[in-house]
Amino acid sequence: MTLQQFLNSKNFNSEINQILLNIEAGSIKMYGKLNEETSDIFGPSGEKNIQNEEVQKLDLIANDIFIDVFKTNSNIAKILSEENEHTIDLNNNGKYLVAMDPLDGSSNIDVNIPVGSIFSILENKEGGFLQNGVDQKLACYVIYGTTTMMVFAVDQATHGFTLNTKNKQYILTHPNISTPNTGNIFSINEGNFNSMEKEIVEFINYCKELNPNGKRTHTGRFIGSLVADFHRNMLKGGIFIYPTTADRPNGQLRLIYECNPIAFIAKYAGGESTDLTKNILDVKPKNIHQRTAFVVGSKQMVNKLLSLYKV
Ligand code: F6P
Ligand code: MN
Repeated sequence: MTLQQFLNSKNFNSEINQILLNIEAGSIKMYGKLNEETSDIFGPSGEKNIQNEEVQKLDLIANDIFIDVFKTNSNIAKILSEENEHTIDLNNNGKYLVAMDPLDGSSNIDVNIPVGSIFSILENKEGGFLQNGVDQKLACYVIYGTTTMMVFAVDQATHGFTLNTKNKQYILTHPNISTPNTGNIFSINEGNFNSMEKEIVEFINYCKELNPNGKRTHTGRFIGSLVADFHRNMLKGGIFIYPTTADRPNGQLRLIYECNPIAFIAKYAGGESTDLTKNILDVKPKNIHQRTAFVVGSKQMVNKLLSLYKV
């Protein structure tokens, strides 16, 4: 079943369908840039973004591609992008807001490791982009990996589509994704080990405990692209942790266009997420580029970590 056929078979509103088709179109262009172009699209652009991070050429290409597709949609009022300090006004009367990380994991582009694009769709209402994640209408990511996949949560379910690269159509390959209740993968940048809260250290040590036969109980996987780390863990069962650290006292990941959409997708796949004080989807954002500590994954694993904070 193609994405279009899937949308025809559902009763999502036409505006949501249109936004999904915009993301489809933009992501197919991105697939082309990443996989079919040999021109000079790699490497740093020489610019820094609002977070003082080096901007890669492909960050800007991705940003332009997705802004251009959303510009064709009169239902979108504003775009918030990781690459732009201010929000971008499109249509005053538009019913929806789009927040995006157009190219997630961009430090991995030049070394042939999967990257992604992340989207959070909110209603255009009071509060603007500063709405709780639980009120998202649609959350979506695209992973450009060994295959290109589009995964989204809408109407209380999470679905995954794989790009047929010959005819450039997304095919429903992962209907109603349900993440395992527990798993054996833990994903964290252990370079931060010595500046993390003691509960996180305790959890990592718990993951490293051996079973009675002296064999490992967990496996460590951290690729450095949030989308790819999350996608793997969602399908296999695991936990992703990016806590506050000495280098990132407020956490590394952005609440509105990274954590919220990933948490929304996790929720409707049966997973859990937290900022280590409350469910991430219940956090009221204070500013558009806000960072947060972020934990997402299999329910039992997230609850095990949270239980260490209670003793
Ligand atoms: O977008 C931020 C990001 O690149 C994520 O994709 C990834 O999970 C994280 O940062 C990696 O951060 P660090 O390099 O500190 O491990
Ligand atoms: Mn990112």
